[in-house]
Amino acid sequence: MACSGFLLILFLCSHAAGNATLFSSVALFQAYADMLHSHPLIVSMFSKGLLLVFIIHIVTGALLFLQNRRARSQGYKVQRRAVKNSQASATMIYSGLTILLFVLLHTYVVSFGNHKTIGETIVNLFSSFFVSIFYIVSFIGLAIHLSHGFWSMLQTFGINHPRYNSFIQRLSYLMPIFFLLIFGSIPLLFLFGTGQ
Ligand code: HEM
Repeated sequence: MACSGFLLILFLCSHAAGNATLFSSVALFQAYADMLHSHPLIVSMFSKGLLLVFIIHIVTGALLFLQNRRARSQGYKVQRRAVKNSQASATMIYSGLTILLFVLLHTYVVSFGNHKTIGETIVNLFSSFFVSIFYIVSFIGLAIHLSHGFWSMLQTFGINHPRYNSFIQRLSYLMPIFFLLIFGSIPLLFLFGTGQ
């Protein structure tokens, strides 16, 4: 889960950087998309690799959830834990399912949207109030998922030291907020008519 999660975070970094061209103009975003698609072999290998990583992450996540539920089928008599369990960790399966629903709808729209260019698809997408709200709610789900996922990934990789734990804890909040601000600003930009 940690390795596939790490690769998905790398994907989010590159996707956020590419999408950030929208802050400049739709024309720049279109130029970026055209540049990517001028290398069809790389795009196709990247997409297939990404799909594989997504599937590995989802299947291991679902297995872990079922394993934990089976182990706790009796329920706890005492609900006290040695390690404090955050709200984000308790809801990983639900925030994960929200992201899955979002990714399925999002990839369908950007891949099969009946507009001439990808730039037009994005402008049209965020001209709808409800679609923009759906995107923003999904990004909040993503931020909640990342806040526990990132922390958990670092624990798995053994990045844990009393001297740095408070920094790691802060990073686990700041990193998802960073993604929320980048991704979330894009629908807001078009919704309020400042995107061009
Ligand atoms: C406002 C924010 C976002 C915008 C404007 C956006 C836009 C796009 C566009 C235009 C594409 C098609 C790229 C192309 O074929 O040229 C795409 C693909 C994709 N997006 Fe997003 N996206 C956003 C947020 C996200 C987020 C948060 C996720 C993940 C949680 C995500 C997951 C994906 C995936 C999985 C693909 C398919 C990639 C592939 O086939 O290689 N997107 N997005």
